[in-house]
Amino acid sequence: MSDTLSTHRSWWIGRNGSDARRLEPRYPRVQEDIHTRVAIMGGGITGLSTALELLDRGYDVAVFESAVIGCGTTGGSTGHLDAHPEGGPSSLSRVLGLNKARQAVALRLDAIDAVERRVNGDCEFQRLPAYFYSENPDDANSLREQGELASRMGLNVDQLATVPYPNAACGYRIDDMARIDSLAYVKHLAQMVSDRGGRIFENSLVAGPVETRPESLDVNGSKVYFEEVVVAVHCNDTDALYLYLETPPYQSYVLAARVSDPPPDALYWDNANPYFYTRRASASDPKLLLIGGCDHRTGTDDPIEAERRLEEYAREHFAVEEIVCRWSAELFEPTDGLPMIGKVPGKENVWIATGFSGIGLTWGTAAGGLLARQINGESVPLENDLSPSRFGVLGLATMAAEQMTTAVNLAERILPASTINPHELKPGEGKVGMVDGVHAAICRDHAGCEHRLSPICTHMGGVVHWNAAAGTWDCPVHGGRYTADGRRLYGPPESSLEAMSAKPAQVKISEE
Ligand SMILES: Cc1cc2nc3c(=O)[nH]c(=O)nc-3n(C[C@H](O)[C@H](O)[C@H](O)COP(=O)(O)OP(=O)(O)OC[C@H]3O[C@@H](n4cnc5c(N)ncnc54)[C@H](O)[C@@H]3O)c2cc1C
Ligand code: FES
Repeated sequence: MSDTLSTHRSWWIGRNGSDARRLEPRYPRVQEDIHTRVAIMGGGITGLSTALELLDRGYDVAVFESAVIGCGTTGGSTGHLDAHPEGGPSSLSRVLGLNKARQAVALRLDAIDAVERRVNGDCEFQRLPAYFYSENPDDANSLREQGELASRMGLNVDQLATVPYPNAACGYRIDDMARIDSLAYVKHLAQMVSDRGGRIFENSLVAGPVETRPESLDVNGSKVYFEEVVVAVHCNDTDALYLYLETPPYQSYVLAARVSDPPPDALYWDNANPYFYTRRASASDPKLLLIGGCDHRTGTDDPIEAERRLEEYAREHFAVEEIVCRWSAELFEPTDGLPMIGKVPGKENVWIATGFSGIGLTWGTAAGGLLARQINGESVPLENDLSPSRFGVLGLATMAAEQMTTAVNLAERILPASTINPHELKPGEGKVGMVDGVHAAICRDHAGCEHRLSPICTHMGGVVHWNAAAGTWDCPVHGGRYTADGRRLYGPPESSLEAMSAKPAQVKISEE
């Protein structure tokens, strides 16, 4: 494993021990001023799909990736490509009405086609059926209605008497969905962008735009000059604070398990909230399943407990022979259920795509086409409904509930904190509290090294929490994440946590 900063250690990375899969930089870092027509922040599926679409329209494009291509959530996804409404067809229909819901589904179906064209037989792209099911027989009528609605939205649906998944009581099948190796795909997209003359820079973090009409942004002490800028960093990274309220951060968990009784090769997800989902990792290894779920607001639940619950789910449903690996990554939940794709409110030349929830491989691909067309002055379907300027009335209650987490977190700055004895911290443990009379975030990494940091997130002052599963400091406010030693890892923060001791003490402690 290379030392590149990544929030996840997904199964795709290092699979088969292949060196080619390591997260290592292939593109230069910015070392001097850059001029481009469109600057794109973020080298995930969204930024690179936007770059390709703009190149197709004759634009000069430069993509800036803060770390390396593949280190973001795209490389940590589970590679489902589906067009089924994530909260269920009835929920999408309530938000948009049937006609517009059909357009939303069509955008995602087109996205699957676009990915298929781009990979041209590569990246293990494979068409597969998908199953939406419930374990509760009482849901049969409701699922039948959802299936009918899904069919009216343009999906190829078959109502089923039985679903070929353990414990499934009722549900339906959707044909022509797909699976892909998402890490290979994002690297493939980067190669396509580069082959078509787009410039890509890695290890080049761009400072988020704050002016109404920015003409340049800071990168590695140099400047990038542009006419338009696209924020494709997964979350909001502008001063439009409203966008943070609309897209709270969630942590989602995956495990790769070898089982002796795999279900037929397909995509599966249930109607629970949060939902569980299952798929084969690859066609060549039929017994290896990726099982995901147990989402919770970043920094608020116990990640070890979430991992335990996911493993329990896997063992309740399959004869697990081996847990091959586990990881978690972040997603941003739109409070009204729709992503935000378009111009940032109050800005003239700043575009954004965020709030993809757990279906950003299709929405991120669709966003590429939608943003390129809007930058090119074309009108696009659902322009107002997906606009980041919309006010999600249906999401008001959810938004208010989400803000409680933020309020509770900010209160931690002033409430009395408990005292921590650093010597009692075991490897892998971290805490926030009073250390030697100072409010600190303190952890001991697995090598036994103590790190003492300011607990205050460098973005907007949230109090970070220790994530014992990933060994990271996570900020519940907007989802910023840092390594155990405080380096910026993901999300809106642009700098690292402040170190409280210039030379952290190296204390070796046994694992017991
Ligand atoms: C566990 C998990 C499983 C998932 N599985 C699926 C799935 O099966 N199917 C599906 O459709 N969706 C899935 N999703 C959602 C999907 O993975 C994401 O919505 C999607 O990958 C987001 O792509 P992106 O390009 O917007 O973000 P990313 O892939 O995160 O790319 C953003 C990039 O921007 C970079 N960056 C950040 N800040 C800056 C900056 N200031 N300057 C420059 N670069 C910056 C980051 O390093 C990163 O590489 C899953 C999500 C999770 C958490
Ligand atoms: S305060 Fe915004 S990510 Fe921490």
